[in-house]
Amino acid sequence: MKDRIEELKKRFANELSGVSDQKTLEDLRLAFLSKKGQVSQLMQELAKIPNEQKKEAGALINSFKQEVSQKFDEKLSEIRKMEEQCLIDSTESYDESLPENIRRGSYHPISLVQRELEGIFESMGFDVEDYSEIVDDYHCFEALNIPKFHPARDMQDTYYLTTPNQLLKSHTSAAQNAIMYKYGKLLKENGRPIRAVFPGRCFRNEAIDACHENTFFQMEGIMIDKNISISNLIYFMKTMLSEVFKRDVTVRLRPGFFPFVEPGFELDIQCLICGGKGCSSCKNSGWLELCPCGMIHPNVLKYGGINSEEDPYEYTGFAFGLGLTRLAMMKYQVKDIRTFNEGDLSALSQFISC
Ligand code: PHE
Repeated sequence: MKDRIEELKKRFANELSGVSDQKTLEDLRLAFLSKKGQVSQLMQELAKIPNEQKKEAGALINSFKQEVSQKFDEKLSEIRKMEEQCLIDSTESYDESLPENIRRGSYHPISLVQRELEGIFESMGFDVEDYSEIVDDYHCFEALNIPKFHPARDMQDTYYLTTPNQLLKSHTSAAQNAIMYKYGKLLKENGRPIRAVFPGRCFRNEAIDACHENTFFQMEGIMIDKNISISNLIYFMKTMLSEVFKRDVTVRLRPGFFPFVEPGFELDIQCLICGGKGCSSCKNSGWLELCPCGMIHPNVLKYGGINSEEDPYEYTGFAFGLGLTRLAMMKYQVKDIRTFNEGDLSALSQFISC
């Protein structure tokens, strides 16, 4: 038995040294360690040998078995490492002299406009805030003085989730209440005015055409302090628009109805193409409608925890809702709103900027 084992050891070592891939190694393992392999045969032979030799022979077979499986494991990890290295070597071979791939992509035109506006507002002391796209009915409507069944809801039909009371926000105004709560304490305790802009994606149940999309972007802004008036609103809008269009712009306010502002306005800018004389871009009116805005309704300030019942006019503020998508269309002369959401890179990659 001892000789047989010695002989098998040599045979195993010999064959193992010639193995260089996993398949041959597995064949060798089966030849020695499977049910019909050499080690099993030795066990069967063990039954036939005289009892007094059994103990010693059994121990020899066991240590042979252990040696075989240990060597097998070592060889297996050696082969795996080798194969891994081969893979690395094959993929890492590259030609250093090839020119660099300089197609780095570009920002979406709406991101460009949004970033520019954020910079302008930050320079005027505004905080830039983020807000979720899924909101509840309270924040999107009721906190904005739009009670259930109010006809103003018709213009803002949106997408409702199966989770009760959850919807995709139909305007960035949905964040007003949360922002008032976030900064209200600083306003009242430290006298720090609330100045914030909050850009965001909005959704409406629209019939889609060149001017209407079910998904679009707005940038809302609010400012709240003591003695804020319409003059402040006009000043900020004019300064901001002059920066965006890189020249002095003339603005005008027309009455507009939104339940969360009182008074409410539509802010127009004098057409930059014809200078107000009238042309096809401004439908011969000399003005372009750009941004709804107004003085924040006392109810909205009350729901936002800013003013108390006793003194509903302690603080006042203005709000505006800039259509970012609209602005991007005007700035880049994009005629069809659908271009922004189509994901057609040949159209979108024209707006390369830093
Ligand atoms: N949220 C309004 C809309 O999307 C716009 C708006 C914002 C109007 C702020 C007034 C003040 O239609």
